[in-house]
Amino acid sequence: MNAITFENISKYYPSTEVQASDNVSFSIRKGEIHAICGENGAGKSTLMNILFGLERMDSGRILINEEEVTLRNASDALAHGIGMVHQHFKLVPSFTVAESILLGTEEKPFISKKSEVEAVRELSEKYSLPIDPSALIDTLPVGMLQRVEILKMLIRNVEILILDEPTAVLTPNEVGPFLDTLRNLKERGKTIIFISHKLQEVLDASDRITVMRKGKFIGTKESKETNIYELADMMVGRKVLLSVDKKPSVPGETILSVENINVTSSSGLKILDNVSFSVRRGEIYGIAGVSGNGQEALIKAIAGEVQVRSGVIRISGKEVQNLSVEQKRKAGMAYVPEDRVHVGLNVEASLLDNSLLGYEDEKCFKKGMFLDEKKLRERAEKMISDYQIYGSSVDGLVSKLSGGNMQKVVLAREFEHVPDLLIVEQPVRGLDVGSIEFVHKAIIEERDKGTAVLLVSVELDEILSLSDRVGVMYSGSLAGELSGDEINETNIALLMVGKKGGVE
Ligand SMILES: Nc1ncnc2c1ncn2[C@@H]1O[C@H](COP(=O)(O)OP(=O)(O)OP(=O)(O)O)[C@@H](O)[C@H]1O
Ligand SMILES: [Mg+2]
Repeated sequence: MNAITFENISKYYPSTEVQASDNVSFSIRKGEIHAICGENGAGKSTLMNILFGLERMDSGRILINEEEVTLRNASDALAHGIGMVHQHFKLVPSFTVAESILLGTEEKPFISKKSEVEAVRELSEKYSLPIDPSALIDTLPVGMLQRVEILKMLIRNVEILILDEPTAVLTPNEVGPFLDTLRNLKERGKTIIFISHKLQEVLDASDRITVMRKGKFIGTKESKETNIYELADMMVGRKVLLSVDKKPSVPGETILSVENINVTSSSGLKILDNVSFSVRRGEIYGIAGVSGNGQEALIKAIAGEVQVRSGVIRISGKEVQNLSVEQKRKAGMAYVPEDRVHVGLNVEASLLDNSLLGYEDEKCFKKGMFLDEKKLRERAEKMISDYQIYGSSVDGLVSKLSGGNMQKVVLAREFEHVPDLLIVEQPVRGLDVGSIEFVHKAIIEERDKGTAVLLVSVELDEILSLSDRVGVMYSGSLAGELSGDEINETNIALLMVGKKGGVE
């Protein structure tokens, strides 16, 4: 029995002139875990938004349990047992977990605070999704927020749960338990649709996989009968290199030097404890570590988003520890932050404006007192074509781009600079396989042009394949540094748990 059937679904966006859904037909079986894959901008989120009643299709039919339905809004979808957790969460920071989960289920206005908390606790136990019902949303890590979003759907008794890139925001140690949650939901009879760019995880977790490309349905495969190469090929329409080629580095002078920096939290907790290291021109320095061991604070301190309590940071010899992100950019730094949508972009502005964000004062973009409109426009157009930013013109709003294409706007802007120091956090988060290949090549090219690259990634594979040297963070300190042949999974893993002696 099919839980969902898509029949000839089409959707055109006039504002961006994109055919986001092009006569798409396929089915989701009841009780299966069905993954949807495809390049950035392939139309995955659009199709799911149509199913959740958030977007109207131009033509086509949707069948739920073999019967045609009309989905005008999310309440219609919920009434038909369909729930969705979005790519970017939509929770109110000042609410508690219980309030967030129950928001909108006001059939029982008389329900007391205590029983709200009870109801949420019961639900979280039933589905093995432990959470503190009275915690405040803005104090929770991303993995927990996701749990809140899932519980919010489950309390509405949904039978079909749509998850848009649920694992993109999780750390590697959170992914395993999350996939167990999916299996657990399946065992309880739920149907799961999830979108992901991580092909290995898709193969491990799903029963079947559907691939989309440029708004079209390409095919559905049984997960047991396919592999990452076939999937990558179906997605991109060509063979994709799933590993990177790079020449040995030729390091030059020291660009970034970090000496004994210390960072404490507002409550006086030590976050960074005397960290020292340096990055030279022409090398990629990877920072690895189990998340929560200080690497986020380290990068934010170097980039200028977090204040250091003591210690010295130099870029090309100049002391910069007290400078802001903007001032450091002037000193030769480019920075691709982890949270690109909130920190790296102004989504309500055009691609053109975003291609310049943070660099408006640079002389090379000016003609007299004003911005050189023509030059900037050409530059933005070149970025769009080089980075294959698909789905909008230079004047289009960034908010209309797909999630992955938003990421590319930030990458293009920061890479375009040929900075002395390039800091990249989680460079390929949310990117499709073809774009990952492209971004990895671009990082290596930056290195070969003589940039000092500081890379932070929770993906060990990415650290292994790109870094010339690796620093491993443990408990706020640098547990060790590896270079050349020492860089391997075992050595990094030992340092990640604080075992310094493990490295010969
Ligand atoms: N509200 C909108 N208005 C105009 N165009 C849109 C809108 N939403 C999406 N699009 C366009 O439709 C196309 C498909 O977008 P969609 O978000 O479905 O892609 P996706 O497959 O989810 O990609 P990603 O992996 O990057 O999240 C994109 O080219 C996007 O620019
Ligand atoms: Mg999407």
